[in-house]
Amino acid sequence: MRAVVYDRYGPPEVLRLEEVERPEPMDDEVLVRIHATTVNRADCATREANRRNGLAASLLSRLVFGIRRPKARILGSEFAGEVEAVGATVSELAVGDRVFGASGLRFGAHAEFIRCPEGSALARMPAGVTFEEAAAACDGAINALTSLRRVGLRAGQRILVYGASGSIGTAAVQLSRDFGADVTAVCNTKNVELVRSLGADRVIDYTREDFTKNGETYDVIFDAVGKQSFRRCRRSLSPGGTYIATDGLLNAVLALVSSRAGGRRVVFPIPRQTKENVRFVAELIEGGRYRAVIDRRYPMEQVIDATRYVETEQKAGNVILAVTDGSGA
Ligand SMILES: NC(=O)c1ccc[n+]([C@@H]2O[C@H](COP(=O)([O-])OP(=O)(O)OC[C@H]3O[C@@H](n4cnc5c(N)ncnc54)[C@H](OP(=O)(O)O)[C@@H]3O)[C@@H](O)[C@H]2O)c1
Repeated sequence: MRAVVYDRYGPPEVLRLEEVERPEPMDDEVLVRIHATTVNRADCATREANRRNGLAASLLSRLVFGIRRPKARILGSEFAGEVEAVGATVSELAVGDRVFGASGLRFGAHAEFIRCPEGSALARMPAGVTFEEAAAACDGAINALTSLRRVGLRAGQRILVYGASGSIGTAAVQLSRDFGADVTAVCNTKNVELVRSLGADRVIDYTREDFTKNGETYDVIFDAVGKQSFRRCRRSLSPGGTYIATDGLLNAVLALVSSRAGGRRVVFPIPRQTKENVRFVAELIEGGRYRAVIDRRYPMEQVIDATRYVETEQKAGNVILAVTDGSGA
């Protein structure tokens, strides 16, 4: 099968297309023929061993993914496709089913086939969506869902989503709205209309207004793009309010040691890529309560261009890597 592989940590140019052995499903696994996947921030960070985030983060990344070189050669953490084969004990899924899911930090989705345990983060695709729409649906939504559940967001609470135009941000706006919260979204001028269309009650253009200085307070501030800090946001949190971090070792430490600072706390949720969560995402899509925002599509052959674009940190929502010509079906 064709796959995008890398054998050393480095810039996007370490990626290349190669013929590799097609995986065989074990008894409890399904083999999925992938039609569409995404290039996301986790792919980029892992590929460069998290160098951008400093020495400590890079060392940690190498400890997890391989000290000298990557242990797993294929990136890609979400996908949509069709079941090609099933193992002997698989009971719920059958050959030909349209499925989508998240392989999370196991990666492996930048390829024509992936094998996944039937019980992993995998579900039938909701009706009426394309492989591309389904492929982009999991990562941002599961990140957002895990975070919002972790803080127990309730109807009527005020939440501010910073970085509302990113993969996690576009999902966080829609899901917060679905939870019944009052949603303020912060993004750049060019994304204001997009973010408004996702259901934000109000949108702040960060090039014109600094939300930390306008006197408003929120029960939850969700830094969906890792560009804020608890310190900066503290005065914009209501007493007992929560700052959700998605990035940064300091935030991980803060979440551990200062879980309550003056009644305000930091949380750093670890996304839970589970079958239940993928099924929940499918329900949201079917109910018209969530859609993955797609910015650009690239054929698999252009993975380096796709990756360079993701690394501009300018994408709105998600970037698709089309594995087959039928990815838009
Ligand atoms: N915890 C985890 O497991 C996990 C997994 C994946 C990613 N992450 C982290 O989650 C965060 C979000 O990832 P993502 O994939 O959703 O991001 P993303 O899609 O790459 O975010 C891109 C968006 O962020 C906006 N942006 C860039 N700089 C900004 C700034 N200074 N202020 C406000 N918006 C800004 C960009 O628009 P403009 O520049 O035009 O505003 C763009 O629309 C990142 O910090 C990433 O490292 C965490």
